[in-house]
Amino acid sequence: MSSNNKSEYIVEVKDLKQYFPVKTGFGKTVPLKAVDGVSFAIKPGETLGLVGESGCGKTTVGRSLLQLYKPTSGEVYFDGELVTDKNIKSLRKEMQMVFQDPYSSLNPRMTVEDIIGEPLDVHKLYKTKAERREKILELMELVGLNAEHATRYAHEFSGGQRQRIGIARALAVNPKFIVCDEPVSALDVSIQAQVINMFEDLQNKLGIAYLFVAHDLLVVHHISDRIAVMYLGKIVEIADADELNENPIHPYTESLLSAIPMPDPKMAKERQRIVLEGDVPSPMNMPSGCAFRTRCRYATEQCAKECPSLKDRGNGHMVACFNK
Ligand SMILES: Nc1ncnc2c1ncn2[C@@H]1O[C@H](COP(=O)(O)OP(=O)(O)OP(=O)(O)O)[C@@H](O)[C@H]1O
Ligand SMILES: [Mg+2]
Repeated sequence: MSSNNKSEYIVEVKDLKQYFPVKTGFGKTVPLKAVDGVSFAIKPGETLGLVGESGCGKTTVGRSLLQLYKPTSGEVYFDGELVTDKNIKSLRKEMQMVFQDPYSSLNPRMTVEDIIGEPLDVHKLYKTKAERREKILELMELVGLNAEHATRYAHEFSGGQRQRIGIARALAVNPKFIVCDEPVSALDVSIQAQVINMFEDLQNKLGIAYLFVAHDLLVVHHISDRIAVMYLGKIVEIADADELNENPIHPYTESLLSAIPMPDPKMAKERQRIVLEGDVPSPMNMPSGCAFRTRCRYATEQCAKECPSLKDRGNGHMVACFNK
């Protein structure tokens, strides 16, 4: 059954939860709440950035969304259609993932041709050997790889080139949506901008939507139309990229932004660095109420009792906080 008007969103995630059972020392199993009630929607051709500290659940959101993990609960819609065990096989073609580490995600002993050709084989996307080769060369050109590279092995390439191979493989099935999980964090800074620009060019040419996961708020701000900020399994703020950058409301977003070095000394002075106190709590032992309250300078009694839900502060700028 279609959930909504077919054309508005390419991907819609509703109250997604992913709890991993973890064994404690005493033979007991407790749930690790890696993703705890996440909702968002992405339009065709749009980029939603997803940021937050290490361990907050970004990769798990991407993997659960693509059903690489079976979600504990919640729904995912692709182009208005509920994703289920039954249709996921055919939807695999529409939704792809590009991984953080181009060294471990590509088999070093496979040739570029075979890596990019694999999804074409799996989904039977060609009739003749010549057509297969033609498609592979087209994809290589699309990501800026030389045709002569086709017969070389993945281990012969640099990180940036490997990431291009990984992207060509993801593009082989002509997806409408790609989860990009920190696709440039393992690359040299000098290469990062080139690869980011390539993601943008591909989006403009092919109209693909991205969920773009990254630590680095500057990278995310550059590439995203909207940005979602995660803290311990939940989205605490989501807004248009410029709006979030200029007018952060959630105390956690404020602290993340304050940690970015400012090129302009005047702006740097105005934007004081907010250093968070304490450690990130364990996702196996979450604080009651708002998970951020233990590090929050605005926390009140209410924050220990209830968990704030995301509320629209105008123009789709959503914030989960009682006091800001
Ligand atoms: N397969 C798994 N089994 C058990 N726990 C897991 C599993 N995958 C992730 N976790 C836990 O879930 C939480 C979220 O992990 P996740 O990898 O999604 O975070 P992340 O935001 O992507 O972090 P990073 O920025 O370091 O990549 C962490 O506490 C992690 O230890
Ligand atoms: Mg991750």
